[in-house]
Amino acid sequence: MMDISLHDAIYTRQSVRRFLDTPIAEADCDSLLAAAAQAPSPHGRQPWRFVVIGTGTPRERLCDAMSSEWQSQLGNDGSDANSIAIRLAASRARITSAPLLFLPCVDLSVLDHYPDAQRQQSEYLMAVQSIGCAIQNMLLTAVALGIHSGWMCAPLFCGETVRKVFDLDAQLIPQALIPFGYMAQSPMRRPKRSGSSLRVNVNE
Ligand SMILES: Cc1cc2nc3c(=O)[nH]c(=O)nc-3n(C[C@H](O)[C@H](O)[C@H](O)COP(=O)(O)O)c2cc1C
Repeated sequence: MMDISLHDAIYTRQSVRRFLDTPIAEADCDSLLAAAAQAPSPHGRQPWRFVVIGTGTPRERLCDAMSSEWQSQLGNDGSDANSIAIRLAASRARITSAPLLFLPCVDLSVLDHYPDAQRQQSEYLMAVQSIGCAIQNMLLTAVALGIHSGWMCAPLFCGETVRKVFDLDAQLIPQALIPFGYMAQSPMRRPKRSGSSLRVNVNE
């Protein structure tokens, strides 16, 4: 672990989309998971699990399953065949080449149960909010380990398909794919807003 300040970790983290082949040490994988476990969570229940998709796992099968669903979604949106093919190929390359890949899932089994849909939805949203905290812990820890990462939202749009590929428990709801590796190409970055521009004032 590098001696890096929290400030530097926050301000230097960036989403990297191309990685070298260099593998990630098992100890670093463990450190990322340990950092996730420190995140705040509703009722302290830690309603998240992380499927570790090693390089030996059938990533092509995951891509095939997600591609066919994504292809039909994009087709329904009116995208042309060429641009669909380009997006699918880029996504497949990212998934198959990442040295380490996590599939973060919300774990419904530890959530509270409410008789009404609105509170149940809030309970689910709390779990989703907290998995974001857990993932951010991983991203910042990766910076301290000299490792890069990039968030992919694809499983959110085809959760059931992803669950079936890995035969996951029905209580595990896929939220994202988070590749980790060593940067092969510096990303293009969109400008960040200033902190003060996020501020909303109300009448006192
Ligand atoms: C919930 C979420 C979903 C995202 N999904 C994707 C994605 O599917 N593909 C991608 O390339 N980046 C994705 N990103 C990364 C954003 O594009 C990136 O964070 C943003 O452009 C800001 O860049 P930075 O992370 O380098 O600061 C996602 C980020 C978040 C938080």
